[in-house]
Amino acid sequence: IFAAVEMAPRDPILGLNEAFNADTRTDKVNLGVGVYYDDNGKIPLLAAVKAAEKARLEAMPPRGYQPIEGAPSYNNAVQNLLFGKDSALIANGQVVTIQALGGTGALKVGGDYLKRLNPAATVYISDPSWENHRAIFESAGFAVDTYPYYDPATRGVNFAGMKAKLGELAAGSVVVLHACCHNPTGADLTEAQWGEVVEACRARGLVPFLDMAYQGFADGIEPDAVAVRLFSASGLQFFVSSSFSKSFSLYGERVGALSIVTADKDEAARVLSQVKRVIRTNYSNPPTHGGAVVAAVLNAPELRQMWEDELAGMRDRIRAMRVGLVESLKAAGVAQDFSFVIEQRGMFSYTALSAAQVEQLKSEFGIYAVSTGRICLAALNSRNIGYVAKAIASVAKA
Ligand code: LMR
Repeated sequence: IFAAVEMAPRDPILGLNEAFNADTRTDKVNLGVGVYYDDNGKIPLLAAVKAAEKARLEAMPPRGYQPIEGAPSYNNAVQNLLFGKDSALIANGQVVTIQALGGTGALKVGGDYLKRLNPAATVYISDPSWENHRAIFESAGFAVDTYPYYDPATRGVNFAGMKAKLGELAAGSVVVLHACCHNPTGADLTEAQWGEVVEACRARGLVPFLDMAYQGFADGIEPDAVAVRLFSASGLQFFVSSSFSKSFSLYGERVGALSIVTADKDEAARVLSQVKRVIRTNYSNPPTHGGAVVAAVLNAPELRQMWEDELAGMRDRIRAMRVGLVESLKAAGVAQDFSFVIEQRGMFSYTALSAAQVEQLKSEFGIYAVSTGRICLAALNSRNIGYVAKAIASVAKA
C-alpha cells in the first residue's frame, strides 16, 4: 500500500520545532513558531486560566458531547470580543459562531463551507502570508493566488498595490485578510486603509475572510478589533476566524472560533445548519475543556480583568524585547538600521535576513527562525537576547 509514498517536506513552521527539539546544544533558541514565552523561557499558564481550571476540576463535570457548534456560553463570549458587546449584529442574531479547533480549525471549517457555497472561487492571500493559509485553502480545493501586501523598501504595506489588485478581482473571490498583527511581516493597515478595503470588497462583491489570531497583541482587545468593527458597520457579509492559542496561552488545547456575519437571523439559521454538516463530517463536535475554561474566564468579570492584565503583560514584554533587540544589535556592532523592529506589531519581526543567513543562524548558533527571515520576538528574554543579537550581527556581517 505504501511502497510508492514519498517523504513530504517538513512543515515550514512546526517542522522547526521538530528540528529544534532534536538539537542537543544547550544555548539553542527557538524563534520559529509563534509562541509566547515568559522571561524565564517558559510558556506561561495564565493565573486566570489556572483559577478557571481549578474551579472546573473541583466541579468534576461529566464529559458528554458538546453541541456540534460548541457551547453557547463560549460562542457568545467570542462574539462579544470580536464584535463588541453592544454589537447590533449580535443583537439581531445575524452572527453565526462555532467553536473550532484553534484558528487553523476555524479556517478549515470556513474553507470547506466556502467550497460548498462557491466552488469556483479563487482565494486570495497576502503576499507574503502565514504559510498555512495557502495550504489550508488549497486542501479545501481552491485555487489560491496572492494580492500585493508587503513592501520591502518601506517595510510597510504596499497599499496602492493591494488596493489596485482588490479592485480587479472577480465577484465572489475570497480575500483572506489579517485583522491585526500581520503574520509574518508585523505591518498592519491603518484604520483609514481598512475603510478603503471594506469599500473595495463592497464594490467588487468579494468575500472577506478576516483571520484574527493575535487580538490583544498590538494595542489591546478593542483597538485590535478595528477591522472586524469596520466590516461589521458596513452591512457586508463576511467570515472571521479567531484563536485563543496565543491570547490565553492555550496552544495545545486548540481553542478557536469561526464567526460568519450573515444578512439576518433567518439566513444565520440556514448558514449554521450547513456549517454544522461540515463539522459533523470532520470532527463531529469540539472538545470541551479549553472552550469551557475560556468561557469561564471571559464570563466572570474578575477573571476577565485578570486575563486582560496578563495579556497586557505579554504585549508589554514583547514590546520591551523589540526595543532590547534593536539596542543589543547596535551594541553588537551592527551597522544596519534595525529600528523598524520597534514599529512592527504582534509577535513577529520580518528581519530581512536571507534564507542563507537563517540557515547559518541554525547551523552555527542553534538559533531557529523561519526561512523567510521571520523571527518570534516573544521567544526572546533577558538571558538569550544578547546571544541572539551577537549571532544576528555575525551573520549580517558575513
Ligand atoms: C505561527 O505562525 O508560528 C503560529 O501561527 C503557529 C502555527 O500554527 O503556525
